[in-house]
Amino acid sequence: MDQFRIHGGKALRGGVEAAGSKNATLPILAASLLADAPCRLTRVPNLRDTETFLTLLGEFGLRVERPVPREVVIDTSGAKTGVAPYDLVRTMRASVMVLGPLVTRFGKAQVSLPGGCAIGARPIDQHLKGLEAMGAEISLEDGYIEVKAKRLKGARISFDMVTVTGTKNLMMAASLAKGVTVLENAALEPEVSCLADLINQMGGCVSGAGTSIIEIEGVDRLGGYEVEVPPDRIEVGTFMIAGAITRGDVTIHRCVPEHVRSLTLRLRDAGLEVTEGNDWVKVLANGPLRPVNIKTAAYPGFPTDLQAQFMVLMTLAKGSCAITETIFENRFMHAAEIIRMGAKVVTEGRTAHLDGVKELTGAHVMATDLRASASLVLAGLAAKGDTIVRRVYHIDRGYERIEERLRTLGAEIERVSE
Ligand code: EPU
Repeated sequence: MDQFRIHGGKALRGGVEAAGSKNATLPILAASLLADAPCRLTRVPNLRDTETFLTLLGEFGLRVERPVPREVVIDTSGAKTGVAPYDLVRTMRASVMVLGPLVTRFGKAQVSLPGGCAIGARPIDQHLKGLEAMGAEISLEDGYIEVKAKRLKGARISFDMVTVTGTKNLMMAASLAKGVTVLENAALEPEVSCLADLINQMGGCVSGAGTSIIEIEGVDRLGGYEVEVPPDRIEVGTFMIAGAITRGDVTIHRCVPEHVRSLTLRLRDAGLEVTEGNDWVKVLANGPLRPVNIKTAAYPGFPTDLQAQFMVLMTLAKGSCAITETIFENRFMHAAEIIRMGAKVVTEGRTAHLDGVKELTGAHVMATDLRASASLVLAGLAAKGDTIVRRVYHIDRGYERIEERLRTLGAEIERVSE
């Protein structure tokens, strides 16, 4: 098993290019199950989750080629329904996104019911409620959800909470259904709009994405697509915080500054100088770090996927603040690890109370999930002395060669075998 060894205390300086977004790539790949023509993606991030999803597509007869790095071409001519097996769904909950495309195109889908995960219970009741409203029959056997429908019918569906994957799944299901589907309380995340644009490019009819009401008029067939994956806003945010926490000067290129605006505003509140252009954002640390309260929320609010990283930054602020997690019920596991590095954090339900300390000190810490691991790397970069971050396979799920890219900014970080 790999681990990172980090020698902290160096200010990061320079520029880095954003990679393609993991959470945009996965639904784009799922949408290839809707296509009756070839699909092509560029700027595909080289990640464990993308690999897992490509393996999953193989279960449904799709053939994947990679003519050049970061490009994926999918031959959909052999597409058929099948089973999303437990072993794949277990490692990547986003696998559930094959449900909508498979049932709408082939009338049947079988997907292992994802269990809970490190960050919470994460049920899929909203996905199932929506499919049922569209006329699907749903049953559960041996841990597998089976969804059947001769042809899904358009329906008016109101989500009980904002769900990103739920919105994407039902949007794909509705794209080949008979009639019009209206999704209310839909997620506003940029990855949802990206999927809507993609379905329209394939010949579908989706409007309203980016607002809380999305309307989808079903069509009889969908063709292929050619798309460049948009930049990963969570990765961009993580690099921004890396610049901030090491008191450095970091520019992230080829990104969409608007997608990280909530972080930009909080970093400015914390005393960082953040400037942005059309497709870049720069963070410069040149004054004291002030404490800032944050509360995670669905887009355009502060992303839960940057909560751990921001918390680590706030451990070094001059004063106290509170961080509240509203999306997932168990997303403070990094707190216990950074306490071992000298941070002062007390968690109370969904709120973490922090008292800033002068410095963090290196320690052996353990990654527990993707974003928590990123936060531990940030803590290591800022800490005095050496930090070992174990179980970095979590970070490889969502950050491409993060250690190499941090090194180009001057970080002392290496990957070693345990
Ligand atoms: N929820 C339900 N029932 C449902 C669906 C969701 O109760 O049917 C709850 C969840 O348990 C959670 C909340 O609603 O408490 C929001 O869940 P959502 O469905 O929005 O999350 P997701 O779609 O499973 C995506 C990202 C996550 C990101 C969240 C929130 C992907 C593949 N995953 O998850 O990303 O944290 O949205 O923005 O897009 C990550 O990349 O590290 C990651 C966890």
